[in-house]
Amino acid sequence: MSKVLITGGCGFIGRHVADEMLEKGHEVRLYDALIDQVHGGAAPQLPDGAELVRGDMQDADRLRAALDGCDGVIHLAAEVGVGQSMYEIARYVGANDLGTAVLLEALLAHPVRRIVVASSMSVYGEGYYALPDGALLEGVRRRPAEVRSGNWNPVAPDGTPLRPAPTDERKRPDLASIYALTKYAQERAVMIFGEAYDVEAVALRLFNVFGAGQALSNPYTGVLANFASRLASGERPTIFEDGQQRRDFVHVRDVARAFRLAYETPDAAGELFNIGSGNAYTVTQVAELLAAAMGSDLSPEITGKYRAGDIRNCFADIGKARSLLGFEPRERLEDSLGEFVDWVRGEVVIDRGAEMRRHLEQRRLVS
Ligand code: UD1
Repeated sequence: MSKVLITGGCGFIGRHVADEMLEKGHEVRLYDALIDQVHGGAAPQLPDGAELVRGDMQDADRLRAALDGCDGVIHLAAEVGVGQSMYEIARYVGANDLGTAVLLEALLAHPVRRIVVASSMSVYGEGYYALPDGALLEGVRRRPAEVRSGNWNPVAPDGTPLRPAPTDERKRPDLASIYALTKYAQERAVMIFGEAYDVEAVALRLFNVFGAGQALSNPYTGVLANFASRLASGERPTIFEDGQQRRDFVHVRDVARAFRLAYETPDAAGELFNIGSGNAYTVTQVAELLAAAMGSDLSPEITGKYRAGDIRNCFADIGKARSLLGFEPRERLEDSLGEFVDWVRGEVVIDRGAEMRRHLEQRRLVS
């Protein structure tokens, strides 16, 4: 067993990773800045047995102190909004990339055995697409001008329609947002550092993580939380594009287990893994499943607008995580919404969806 430092340890994913690691007998120290956008000024509820060091990712002294006595790191601290990253560029690059750089320098003074970094499916840009004969295409992109005129689905260069297909780790990254760029830099920095200093580095490319504990009042926290806070406030969920874009929703407890497996599995060193459910859902399907689970008859508003930086389709092929980590998702979206909704009902929800839309529209990032 070991002592692990979890950066971003008070966040939605961090708290679940902490529970999972504690349950399996690891000692856990959390490092978190407890920013207001996520925590709303509230004191965090720490998992039993975890210690907390409060600090910013760019505070080298605090980080060095936090690393003292740790033999591994799970690096989750990051700003996470795709839309927001398109105008708070310096903040995203600072927190995600400079923050990781400061952590890696701190690790020079406090070497650890292993570091597991949370990367993102957003590094892929569009996922794989299949041509009618089944051949896979990568490097598919949507041109903003086409998308703005309502041609939502990418097509082959000769105009042939394409079918979205599961994406595996061999797909080359294609960065479509500042957020994706920062996550890719974060992932690469950790892997490069690992090779250079003989630290076992592992990157997990997370797909759309959901579950109780998401920051509901943070409008940049992901589509399911956005929809839940709209519905809980008696407002219709807002859907960008036509609602047929597809994502892979993976439960936060499955993700927490994936982090533990990535931390413990000897053969994971030097590897990167997709962590998703392996299932694809359209955004409209998600709005409908959630409304049904909440007993709401509010139908979503399909805006037909495009949010800059958004990709159309990406869902995971998780074969590599299955075979190398022994990872098997246990909690499907449709079976887990009851628990999610019970949790939403106990929360004070401030819906900031309209505010997010206004911020993005003012900057012409939704059009
Ligand atoms: C999300 C996460 C990102 C994470 C990635 C993989 C957010 C903001 N982004 O990216 O941090 O790395 O998954 O886990 O959590 N949509 C609506 N209405 C809304 C909000 C979103 O229609 O109110 C649509 C978007 O236009 C998009 C889809 O839902 O097509 C998913 O959006 P979202 O959950 O915000 O982000 P991802 O790009 O999937």
